[in-house]
Amino acid sequence: MTKYKIAWLPGDGVGNDVMEAAKIALDELKFDAEYIYGDIGWEFWKKEGNPLPERTIKILKETDCCLFGAITSKPKEEAERELAPELKGKGYVYSSPIVRLRQEFKLHTSLRPCKAYKGNPLNYRDDIDLVVFRENTEGLYSGVEFHPLPKEVMSSLSENHPKMKRFKNTSLEDIALSCRIFTRKACQSIVRQGFEYAKKFNRNSVTVIEKPNVIRETSGLMVREARKIAQEYSGIELWETNIDAMCMWLVKNPQNYSVLVSSNMFGDIVSDLCAQLIGGLGFASSANIGDDYALFEPTHGSAPKYAGQYKVNPMAMLLTVKLMLDYLGEKESAQRLENSIAQVIEEGKVRTYDLGGTSSTLDVAKEVARKI
Ligand code: IPM
Ligand code: MG
Repeated sequence: MTKYKIAWLPGDGVGNDVMEAAKIALDELKFDAEYIYGDIGWEFWKKEGNPLPERTIKILKETDCCLFGAITSKPKEEAERELAPELKGKGYVYSSPIVRLRQEFKLHTSLRPCKAYKGNPLNYRDDIDLVVFRENTEGLYSGVEFHPLPKEVMSSLSENHPKMKRFKNTSLEDIALSCRIFTRKACQSIVRQGFEYAKKFNRNSVTVIEKPNVIRETSGLMVREARKIAQEYSGIELWETNIDAMCMWLVKNPQNYSVLVSSNMFGDIVSDLCAQLIGGLGFASSANIGDDYALFEPTHGSAPKYAGQYKVNPMAMLLTVKLMLDYLGEKESAQRLENSIAQVIEEGKVRTYDLGGTSSTLDVAKEVARKI
């Protein structure tokens, strides 16, 4: 019996390339696990009308956590076009498997560290050390959407909100509605985790990024809960910023910020911005954490044009493995891995194309393994 069972989901595009890199590091660390491969991705959408087959959900339920490569997501019409001919017109609707997994497994917290490692030529500055906590299952990505707007929804909204009057002469066919749903519990949870992290790692501020001056009820709820929670943490300041201004300040003074907390969509946006400050998506790791399960994925996409070429930077994936080891309580391995990654970046001898190098994905992983 191995100590851990890990669901192994390479997914699409370069997913497999970076998962192989992950395996090289895990083996070097003598990580004691059984890896259970699961089907997920575009191929299964095309063949089965479901990019996340039930059999894969089952594997996740039987494992300690999941390591995930990358996924291709396309808008509705394009997805429909690529479906196998016999499945077309049968009512299959594409929805992002990763968003579904986050919701089905209640992975309420997305943790996205963005740290500038010394010697990375792509760093915007060398003193950036940000950690984004993104609410991961609700908000504008709740998936509660309508088009056309059902008549009952229109009349109910009109009865309950004066501002709906403006839309009363628009035909239902011409209105799309996506709901931004926040629960108090999820707001409290994401803010609390930001503060707990700040406390544990001696950081002196938590910035809550919303837009309560306009989105009064949802963003408002998040900020109001944050103010209450902040009172329990003396010595850690709560900073409140609006998402638009925050994007500007992150470009201006990223070194002034530390722990960032936001809702699903703003967290999605701001985490890409933070990633670019520390070298781009090639360095951006992420954890999706719930009460009973967790899934780890690099933030980058599937980059189909590079699939199978072992060209892309595996650092995001290797840093993601570090997050997985942290989650499992394998602190020493996590630290050794991070130190090795940092050394390889600083030496700058083995680099993928994004850093101006010619090394392959696996060359970089092997170099990190050598340092381990
Ligand atoms: C991310 C990605 C996903 C998201 C997409 C692929 C659905 O952008 O993990 O940040 O929006 O959450
Ligand atoms: Mg994103």
